[in-house]
Amino acid sequence: MAGHVLIIDYGSQFTQLIARKTRAAGFYAEILPAGLPVGPSLGRGPGALILSGGPASAMEEGAPTLDPALVAAGLPILGICYGMQLLAHSLGGKLTKEATGEYGPASFERLNDGPLWRGLPGGPFKVWMSHGDRVEATPPGFLVSGKTADLPVAAMEDPIRKIHAIQFHPEVHHTQNGELILANFLAAAGLTPTWKMSSFARDTIEAVRAKTGPDGHVICALSGGVDSAVAAALVSKAVGSRLHSIFVDNGLLRDGEVDEVRAALTSAYPEMNLTIVDASALFLDRLAGEEDPETKRKIIGKTFIEVFTAEAKKLGKIDFLVQGTLYPDVIESVSPQGPSAMIKSHHNVGGLPKDLPFKLIEPLRDLFKDEVRVLGKELGIPDDLLWRQPFPGPGLAIRVIGPVEPEALSILRRADRIVRDGIKNAGLDREVWQYFAVLLSNKSVGVMGDGRSYGRVVAIRAVTSVDAMTADWARLPHDLLARMASRIINEVSGVNRVVYDISTKPPGTIEWE
Ligand code: XMP
Repeated sequence: MAGHVLIIDYGSQFTQLIARKTRAAGFYAEILPAGLPVGPSLGRGPGALILSGGPASAMEEGAPTLDPALVAAGLPILGICYGMQLLAHSLGGKLTKEATGEYGPASFERLNDGPLWRGLPGGPFKVWMSHGDRVEATPPGFLVSGKTADLPVAAMEDPIRKIHAIQFHPEVHHTQNGELILANFLAAAGLTPTWKMSSFARDTIEAVRAKTGPDGHVICALSGGVDSAVAAALVSKAVGSRLHSIFVDNGLLRDGEVDEVRAALTSAYPEMNLTIVDASALFLDRLAGEEDPETKRKIIGKTFIEVFTAEAKKLGKIDFLVQGTLYPDVIESVSPQGPSAMIKSHHNVGGLPKDLPFKLIEPLRDLFKDEVRVLGKELGIPDDLLWRQPFPGPGLAIRVIGPVEPEALSILRRADRIVRDGIKNAGLDREVWQYFAVLLSNKSVGVMGDGRSYGRVVAIRAVTSVDAMTADWARLPHDLLARMASRIINEVSGVNRVVYDISTKPPGTIEWE
């Protein structure tokens, strides 16, 4: 995709935000972690470079450096925060360490009419800072283009080489005019905004067609979630009935789920060749008596692969496997920060082992989650499916605390249905990221009618989040909580107490296991 934006990631927590903002402005953006060879990325013909922020000090030994090939490529460059310091440090300017650093809001004033400031107010505006070093002297060829009260060089520019640098973060929500500054840079670089979901869909369908050839058969594991559904829809447009989709009913799904998935997918995409495999007995048999969360997850992951592979064999010769891998998975796997500590062994259909005898098709590997929804809409996938709340691969097995017995699953399904209906009917289903019931393993004493009861406890979990990395408990209206609790206790036999989980993530996780 020539003429796109190449972002070099120096480890800032905001790098993905730069890419999303750039794409939202209509320009395709690709992220390359610093330290990896730049040749292949430059070879794809970017039209501009953005150097991200990062936690290091450019003056320290071992800090990420500026690959000279990036400057030598002669492309317009925007350095942000660490990116600015790196430009100053590498091109002959001078940095100094600040005693305390500067974090949070600052009032920025531009000092020229450079291209970055086109359409901006003449006076100061609020920007967001987060840095420990500062540029003391600009490199040869640069002029100072902006300042704050505390920072004499808050922006600099080399008008001849079209290299711009800003100490603040234009990509964060709290910086005023940030999106305009990014768009100004890209316009000054001579790029035209051509990134549209309709053209992405068309190009990707063409690419899948070319990859599979006229006879290639493709298999896809559907999870019922948005990523695998959109990936399958896209591939189905490319190869028609040579796509074979498999949905494994592991017996750990929510009330009505199999029917919902069948209805949503077969109505929108009859040519998807959807096979629903009922493997619930096998999964429940393997899980019988198991209490340990990690062991449950491992059993489910392994059984899923077995069932899926056996089903694929029945279809005859299959050449390709579709996976709903997204862009954040692709970048994170080579993140300069290294892999984060393992908290839970997540299992999903994207986690199929690489040694299956298929070539991979990953049509969404350039997209962020919100872009997948836009694409799904473009492809005619029903809203109900596009906006389904995330549901973990191991399903209800990690929401029944303790052994996963059929009776426990049945209690949980009924309680969970009441929670889902309650939140949906209150019109909160798009505001709340995830909402569900958890069946606890202990029992509690209660009084029902005139007698003593000794029943199970259901926890309601409802969280707000943007990416599931952090989450807060949802401030649901008390009346809604009361209604759900009373329905669960009255309608689900065996339950005599309902509690509301008010833990944040961290330190809690969204799921209980
Ligand atoms: P936790 O519980 O780690 O969950 O805060 C974060 C998000 O991931 C979902 N989740 C999973 N998704 N396979 C998945 O596809 C899994 O094994 C899995 N475990 C948790 C969870 O529902 C939440 O959205």
